[in-house]
Amino acid sequence: MAGPLDAGALIGSVPFFSDLDPKTKKALLAQGKEMTFKSGDTMVTEGTTGVGFFLILDGLAEVRKKGKVVATLAKGQFFGEMSLIDDMPRSADVVAVQPTRCWAITSWSFASLMKVHPELAVGMLKEVVKRLRAALSSPTS
Ligand code: CMP
Repeated sequence: MAGPLDAGALIGSVPFFSDLDPKTKKALLAQGKEMTFKSGDTMVTEGTTGVGFFLILDGLAEVRKKGKVVATLAKGQFFGEMSLIDDMPRSADVVAVQPTRCWAITSWSFASLMKVHPELAVGMLKEVVKRLRAALSSPTS
C-alpha cells in the first residue's frame, strides 16, 4: 500500500485535479483514503445506494450495465459521481479488471468541498460531458 505522499503525487498528476491549487489538493487528500481491489472485485454495484466517489490511482476498471461493458476506466479517471450528484442508486457495476488502487472519498465530503471549490465541480462536469458525448455516439444508444 502506498503512503499519503504517493497518493498526493498521483492525485496531483491526474487531469481532473490538475487545475486545483496546492491548498485545495491538500484539503481534498486529507478527506479521502486509499482502497485496493483485486482483479474481479466489484467496486460499485448497480442499483445499490452509493456513498463513495472513486479516483483510479492505478489499475483498470470496467463499467458494466446489466453485465454489458459500456466503458473502461483507467488511471486518472473517476467513477461514482452520478450517485453523488443525484442521490439515485448506482447506474452501473464498476469492476476491477486488474489489481486496482483507488482514492475514495465519501459523497458528503466531496460535495461540501465542491461548494468551497467550485473548480472541482467544473472539472468533474467536463469529464461527465465527455462521457455523455461518447455514450450518445455509441452505436447501441
Ligand atoms: P454511479 O452511478 O454513482 O455508479 C456507477 C458509475 O459508473 C457511475 O456513477 C459512473 O461513474 C460510471 N458510469 C456509468 N455509466 C457510464 C458510462 N456510460 N461511461 C463511463 N462511466 C459510466
